[in-house]
Amino acid sequence: MEHPIPTGQERTFADHEIIVSKTDLKGRITYANQTFIEISGYTEEELLGQPHNLIRHPDMPRCVFKLLWDTIQAGEEIFAYVVNLCMNGDHYWVLAHVTPTWNLSGQISGYHSSRRVPERKALEKVIPLYRSLKRIEGASSDWRTGMQNATVELLSQLDAVGMEYDEYVFAL
Ligand SMILES: Cc1cc2nc3c(=O)[nH]c(=O)nc-3n(C[C@H](O)[C@H](O)[C@H](O)COP(=O)(O)O)c2cc1C
Repeated sequence: MEHPIPTGQERTFADHEIIVSKTDLKGRITYANQTFIEISGYTEEELLGQPHNLIRHPDMPRCVFKLLWDTIQAGEEIFAYVVNLCMNGDHYWVLAHVTPTWNLSGQISGYHSSRRVPERKALEKVIPLYRSLKRIEGASSDWRTGMQNATVELLSQLDAVGMEYDEYVFAL
């Protein structure tokens, strides 16, 4: 499916709502709740089976998704601020909680994400942070080097405040 062009128009959802999706091991969507379907603008049929980067917004730094995947593939949970694209190019910010799902033999069988409305004051810090990480990523001609440089910058900013990524997310 084609990625929409961002409109710059923000969508919001209610504080009591939770946007839920589940994926297989490769990040293909296997479940989407009604709130996800409504805000994304896609039908359930259009979402199921698609890679989760269907809703990836170009403003999101690659290094954040690298940290997300490294963390969940290691069997741990992660909280992250994410901006997502709707089918018509509008966007919405979330505070996402992503976790592995385990089968009875103790292996990771997929992943699960619940997202709620982020605090506005946290976004005031996240938006410039992500912008600076994107700038670093864009400064390298090859994306892998750019992502590594942005990861170094993110980790050094965390180091400067003496926090792990999840502590930092909650302190925002
Ligand atoms: C359970 C789960 C939920 C995810 N939710 C999102 C999401 O809401 N938005 C998003 O852009 N990527 C999400 N991702 C990450 C995507 O799989 C993908 O890594 C990301 O969109 C970056 O795309 P790219 O790897 O093609 O650059 C999620 C992954 C998992 C496993």
